[in-house]
Amino acid sequence: MNFSSLEYIRCPACGGKVATAPRAWQCLSCRRSYPVEDEIPALLAQPQFTPGEGDTGLDAETARYPLLMAAFALLLRVWLPAERRRLIGRIGILPGDVVLDHCTGPGGNLPAIASLIGPSGKLFAMDLSRAMVRAAQRFARAKHIAAEIHRADALHLPYADNCFNAVVHYGAINQFADQRKAIDEILRVTKPGGVIALLDEGIEPGKENTWLAKLLVWKNPLFSSRPPLDLIPPKANPRLEWVLRGVFYQIIFRKPSV
Ligand SMILES: C[S@@+](CC[C@H](N)C(=O)[O-])C[C@H]1O[C@@H](n2cnc3c(N)ncnc32)[C@H](O)[C@@H]1O
Ligand SMILES: [Zn+2]
Repeated sequence: MNFSSLEYIRCPACGGKVATAPRAWQCLSCRRSYPVEDEIPALLAQPQFTPGEGDTGLDAETARYPLLMAAFALLLRVWLPAERRRLIGRIGILPGDVVLDHCTGPGGNLPAIASLIGPSGKLFAMDLSRAMVRAAQRFARAKHIAAEIHRADALHLPYADNCFNAVVHYGAINQFADQRKAIDEILRVTKPGGVIALLDEGIEPGKENTWLAKLLVWKNPLFSSRPPLDLIPPKANPRLEWVLRGVFYQIIFRKPSV
């Protein structure tokens, strides 16, 4: 972590500035300490998410994730890395942008984002699961992608207000207990005029009775989720598109300037 990245970080509990050290980061206001595990700081405000507790469900998801992605690719007949590049390419991310990959999982979005922002951009990635951030770290290193990776909770983001040009969220919004809080947090950390993309499961109207839609909803009820358009400020003028054979939605919008 270099100094210029530290200016983006805030204590997830109190919003204070944070100082780094090899074994733990510390809030300069409330003095909370945040452990660094495998070079990844765990910036978690909630005590239930201290290392070793509270994330076993998410870590089990990590173990299943490569298999799940392979099954999707076969079922949807798509090559996911290419599809990610195509979908992320539509968001409006520019060279030099500072971008957050929100709920990064094992980091599948990172190559597409890194190639859009180029060497003058800055890439941050966060996820609540320890296993996922470790996988993202390994993946980014293997691909020679410079990314600042943090373990963090989407409901208490450890980032400063108005600091990202773009926030990319693929795949968890439907699972959040408090979707409004998660979207408000994304809006808080995005610069006015910055762009936000939310992609998750959802069947395109008119396709509910196809065999693919029925199979997906049967295997995973999250596919009956609706795009959370009501949680996006009306002034943001959200653009909704149905993607991946009409079984996912992508919403792209800009944070209003006032
Ligand atoms: C379906 S995966 C998507 C991963 C990745 N964005 C992708 O496109 O492959 C959902 C991710 O959300 C993470 N997640 C779930 N709840 C979270 C929370 N409250 N805060 C941060 N990450 C969370 C999970 O650990 C998991 O990695
Ligand atoms: Zn603090």
